[in-house]
Amino acid sequence: MSEPIIAVVGASGVVGRQVVQGLLMRDHPADHVRAFASERGAGEELDFGDDSIVIEKYGDDSLRGANVVIVAAPPEVARPVAERAQALGLWVVDLSGSFRVDDKVPLVVPGVNDGVLDRPFPGRIVSLAHASTQAFTRALEPLRAAFGLLFADATVLCGSAVYGSPGVAQLSKQTAELMNAKDPDLEVFPHRLGFNVIPSVGAIEGGLSQQERALLIETARVWGGEKMPAVTTTSVLVPTYHGFTLVLSAHLARRADADGVRAVLKADSGLKLLYEPAENIYPMPMLATDDATVHVGRVRVLGERVQLVAAIDNAFRTADAALDIAFELADRD
Ligand SMILES: NC(=O)c1ccc[n+]([C@@H]2O[C@H](COP(=O)([O-])OP(=O)(O)OC[C@H]3O[C@@H](n4cnc5c(N)ncnc54)[C@H](OP(=O)(O)O)[C@@H]3O)[C@@H](O)[C@H]2O)c1
Repeated sequence: MSEPIIAVVGASGVVGRQVVQGLLMRDHPADHVRAFASERGAGEELDFGDDSIVIEKYGDDSLRGANVVIVAAPPEVARPVAERAQALGLWVVDLSGSFRVDDKVPLVVPGVNDGVLDRPFPGRIVSLAHASTQAFTRALEPLRAAFGLLFADATVLCGSAVYGSPGVAQLSKQTAELMNAKDPDLEVFPHRLGFNVIPSVGAIEGGLSQQERALLIETARVWGGEKMPAVTTTSVLVPTYHGFTLVLSAHLARRADADGVRAVLKADSGLKLLYEPAENIYPMPMLATDDATVHVGRVRVLGERVQLVAAIDNAFRTADAALDIAFELADRD
């Protein structure tokens, strides 16, 4: 196919903006990009090199003529948009998690289970795993392949952008209010996040927060099978804007030494090993900005036990992965 027409629903949001920027970085022609949002975001002009893309209000006929749609909208909006696009014959890359439990929809973590797209699947919707699942499975995948994995735990520290643009705006507002000795506005998070840490991302049900449940469900699908390790996780909201940091503990199936573990991590082109502890070089969201690789470091090994830290730019990696998948799908019938 010549250049596909790519539609982005949710183009005014944290992730959607990154998708449009990603199209510019890939030299995609401006007249092959369509950007949509609700009435609130419609009308905004997004910079696109020498051109600009005007965000349109999404409606039932918006997607006609497009080849692929990337859906970066809240789940309650994303599901009907994805289903409508599929009915129109478009390929769909859903970023909302709406289809994560749907066996008919492939769930992808690039660099971990890309092969799932090579097998036939019904329908035209592909679901990209949540950024926390991507970071968790991507960071540990080379260790799983080289040594086997019996158990893995992740504490996922998330900046406020995990709640989208409203999360970013709310943290700014709360911080300013607290600095001015005012009571903080409490609209987005269950407690104030300014100068605080909240050990939950999304509502808690049955002991698990929404994001913890997403990671467990998605990891079971991505790594599933007989050799599926036991997995535990805790999600924590921290008062930063962008990026995730993961504190990872793993129990390997075979003993390893620190040099061997670091060599395996270093050899993986999807990871960036930052390991100069004496020089204070280790993964931080600040260093992962605009980088689609998962940064890993602070590696410690004791027999079968490994501890390490990972960091990602969640929105950038999600957008970059979505575009890789979108262009691959666009080449299909
Ligand atoms: N934040 C992350 O790092 C991240 C990573 C991976 C996946 N995700 C998922 O990606 C999706 C978007 O996340 P985000 O962080 O970008 O959220 P966000 O900043 O709140 O953006 C949401 C986007 O959806 C649009 N939207 C809302 N209602 C709409 C409607 N009725 N019709 C059309 N567009 C509508 C919004 O447009 P308006 O401006 O008009 O409201 C906005 O463009 C979510 O499902 C999220 O779970 C987020």
